[in-house]
Amino acid sequence: MRLLRSWLFVPGDSERKMEKALGNDADALLLDLEDSVADDRQDVAREMVADFLAANQDRSQQQLWVRINPLDTDMALPDLAAVMSGAPDGIILPKVYSAAEVNRLADFLLALEAREGLELGSTKICSVATETAASLLTFDSYLKDISPRLVAMTWGGEDLAAALGASTNRHPTTGEYDDPFLLARSLCLATARAIDVQAVGVVYVDFRDSAGLEQECLRDRRSGFIGKVAIHPAQVEVINRAFTPTDEEIDFARRVIDIFEQNPGMGTIGLDGKMLDMPHLKQAKNVIALVDQLR
Ligand code: COA
Ligand code: MG
Repeated sequence: MRLLRSWLFVPGDSERKMEKALGNDADALLLDLEDSVADDRQDVAREMVADFLAANQDRSQQQLWVRINPLDTDMALPDLAAVMSGAPDGIILPKVYSAAEVNRLADFLLALEAREGLELGSTKICSVATETAASLLTFDSYLKDISPRLVAMTWGGEDLAAALGASTNRHPTTGEYDDPFLLARSLCLATARAIDVQAVGVVYVDFRDSAGLEQECLRDRRSGFIGKVAIHPAQVEVINRAFTPTDEEIDFARRVIDIFEQNPGMGTIGLDGKMLDMPHLKQAKNVIALVDQLR
């Protein structure tokens, strides 16, 4: 699958926001049926999202995903039943306890794809992998048996704070995430890399602070995340820029690859006065692969 840099949440009961989000630079819109929709608006939201999907079938520039309610609520199946007629590119699964629910969702999708005459297996899944206390202890379940529909994982610090009984997820003076949340972040990243799916950075809730967002994007990228969830259209440009390798990075990566190609059999080489060895070559190839996959 093409890698997606910016994943913009849009409340599923807001025609105005859905129209505004359409065709902006977000690589994917996440039409939300969960936390941004009030209980008495669920039916309205399902219908609006289904209509929006049906009206926007060309996904070549922007994918359309839907966040459904958690599988342990009685809203999840009606959500799916309503939106699958519009052939969403993927489903965001919140409040996951383990990989078992991802696989259960995959079975539901298969049935609904058959009902709708869609290509079987075409609907992808992204799990919000850290919103329950149990989820921090079950990451190994993803390594045992996981549906190939799972193409991305992200994490969440807001619901996790509530689940852990935390009064806040940030350190009061530094503003950094406290350790349970950094643990969640690291486990999500390691698991995603272990099963070769895209690790997507968490939402940055302070949507007026674009400098802070940029710093967090660069930190996520240094760690190995690709892309980030957005909640406001103004965040999209910052995210796209931060996760696109710069011309200098691409040039340097090409030079690293070239110098190893020109010196076959050499495991370590000097370039610009610095030692390069196999991890640097691998990193350079990652940069070029990322550029190719973002096209
Ligand atoms: N998608 C599309 N359009 C959006 C948007 C979004 N996520 N967030 C804001 N906009 C639009 C607004 O409608 C407004 O346009 P308008 O004046 O023509 O109506 C414009 O962008 C500027 O919005 P702004 O005034 O800066 O923000 P706000 O106070 O209206 O909204 C939020 C703030 C947080 C409520 C809003 O950004 C939002 O709904 N975000 C998504 C929330 C969500 O889905 N959460 C679930 C995942 S955590
Ligand atoms: Mg939430």
